[in-house]
Amino acid sequence: MSMDIGIFDSGIGGLTLLHQAMVLMPREDFLFYADTDHVPYGTKTREQVTAYVDEVIRFMIAHDCKAVVIACNTATAVAAEQMRSRYTQIPIIGIEPAVKPAVAESEGRRVLVVATPLTVHEKRLQKLVERVDDDHLVDLLELPGLVEFAERGEFVSERVTSYLQEKLSGYALDRYGELVLGCTHFNYFKDTFRALLPPRIHMIDGSLGTVRQLMRVLDVRHELRESAAGDGVEWEKHKNDICVRYYESGREITDAAKLATIRRLHGRLEQMRKIV
Ligand code: DGL
Repeated sequence: MSMDIGIFDSGIGGLTLLHQAMVLMPREDFLFYADTDHVPYGTKTREQVTAYVDEVIRFMIAHDCKAVVIACNTATAVAAEQMRSRYTQIPIIGIEPAVKPAVAESEGRRVLVVATPLTVHEKRLQKLVERVDDDHLVDLLELPGLVEFAERGEFVSERVTSYLQEKLSGYALDRYGELVLGCTHFNYFKDTFRALLPPRIHMIDGSLGTVRQLMRVLDVRHELRESAAGDGVEWEKHKNDICVRYYESGREITDAAKLATIRRLHGRLEQMRKIV
């Protein structure tokens, strides 16, 4: 019995959630799966994404994971409900855009939710917005280009800045209070967002809430290992002891250069985690 926590995404975006989980749950072991054969998910059809997600969850079950975390807002939007009724033997937790806390914290200012095209067009997000957005403050914006930049490892560049400038140019940003990062790939760009947004706009994403939900679910099942209070310092202290096995679409990553790249991505995410 491996008892790993399985975490997956289409690509490197899911490391955002793994990173947060490593901070808060340093005694756990993880299996991280990036579905690099099929990235990006956000511009595919819902049928395609459902089939990819099904394959990954079957992989996690075959590897005796004790829980699966869908670290991809797009995959949650499209397939979480279906997967939960199909695979009842394992808890399935899915990240979602943090629209509810954003609306609660925006103090009447507007809320901009950025996500992939598929997430934006899925009923699940639209229903979530309907439920919490009584005052019609929420706008949705697709940013598929950021997934491409992230997968290329291009996090800070003039092209990234111009892309975001152009996409945000249609919004009167001084009327906004919250930016919801509704795709796990977008966390890599928090420094550029921060530079472009008025200081009063706060950025929020679903990874912290999802990890807390994961901890609650494991706790109820008596499967949660002792956890730390958890801040960045804990991650620095424990990062070399935490056991993570990394996979690319079912193939374990053993190549030293690739593992070094993943370590660098964790370093970047640790910096981004401190930007709000
Ligand atoms: N990182 C994923 C998300 O949170 C999707 C990115 C993609 O593959 O398009 O939505």
